[in-house]
Amino acid sequence: MITGQAITKTFKQRGNVLDSREVRALRGVDFVIPKGGAASFIGESGCGKTTLGRIIAGLESHDTGEITIDGTAMSSLRPRDRQPYFRRIQLIHQDPYSALNPTRTIHQTLNAPLALRAKQTGRSRGWMDERAQEVLSLVGLDAGSVLGRYPHQLSGGMRQRVVIARALTVDPEMLVADEAVSMIDVSLRLGILALLKDLRERLGVSVLFITHDVATARYIGDDGELYVIYRGQVVERGPVDTIISGPVHPYTQSLLSAIPVLHGLEEPGAQPVVPTEALDESHHDEGCLFARRCPFRTGKCESEVPVLGLGEGIPQEHACFHPERRAVVAQPAGR
Ligand SMILES: Nc1ncnc2c1ncn2[C@@H]1O[C@H](COP(=O)(O)OP(=O)(O)O)[C@@H](O)[C@H]1O
Ligand SMILES: [Mg+2]
Repeated sequence: MITGQAITKTFKQRGNVLDSREVRALRGVDFVIPKGGAASFIGESGCGKTTLGRIIAGLESHDTGEITIDGTAMSSLRPRDRQPYFRRIQLIHQDPYSALNPTRTIHQTLNAPLALRAKQTGRSRGWMDERAQEVLSLVGLDAGSVLGRYPHQLSGGMRQRVVIARALTVDPEMLVADEAVSMIDVSLRLGILALLKDLRERLGVSVLFITHDVATARYIGDDGELYVIYRGQVVERGPVDTIISGPVHPYTQSLLSAIPVLHGLEEPGAQPVVPTEALDESHHDEGCLFARRCPFRTGKCESEVPVLGLGEGIPQEHACFHPERRAVVAQPAGR
């Protein structure tokens, strides 16, 4: 089981050395991903999903808060001693092209982590070959035809399968799939999502989907937990079906629907959905972070901070003073 408590992360603004503004990428995020379980983090570009995924995989530090893996608090360990824990959390990121070394065959790519494990556990070369075949067959690739090939000789979907196979060489406890299908041809996406689902069932590996796309988030399965993230904060959380069939936070409703989110004081209906990054909200940290975009805001929303929790007879956790199940028009797939 992997948990996070009150994880925060602030970055210095990128690019401009004269600009000392900070980006609050995560503002106190809690999560629980049970052994063999599934979760989806969903939210617009820039809301902090990748940062959170990288922290969970041990690739990025956080400022405050605690990550606990199988009962061990990572802060209680020296960085070196955290490695065996984080090694079992494997990140699959969106670009299988850059994830694979173009000068190495698939065989060489898989052999690197396998050789390390063989050395650590005193196993033979024969074991490495067997294991390479095994992980390729787990991801639905034929070892005979791919082992000798280079990444550029494979399709995007096959490359992503190789990346997943490489992650499996370390017997991971969790796969973190960060927009893992966004750069893959639409016709091949479902196959990769089905593969992740299948690996979860067959190997008991937990899967964390990070995505801006509702259709993908939904694919984690009925028992998955959905975390809706807005500006570094979880605004709604609960079983995926509960949230998709009855979202209560206006931000979730805007994500799930084709109805535009209203912006500022403009006339209802006139504005398209405003991407988070297009709004300069960096100095607007009072009250509910969503208030300025929210068509249902009241005075309270502008001065008090809503905390994620249950209440008002609603089955999912929400951080909203005026939660209400609203009918939303589902976006057509592929948009
Ligand atoms: N290394 C970094 N340096 C500075 N700012 C960063 C860095 N990584 C992410 N950010 C900023 O943190 C915020 C969250 O980014 P990210 O986690 O990549 O969001 P998402 O994956 O949801 O699109 C964004 O405003 C982004 O510009
Ligand atoms: Mg991202």
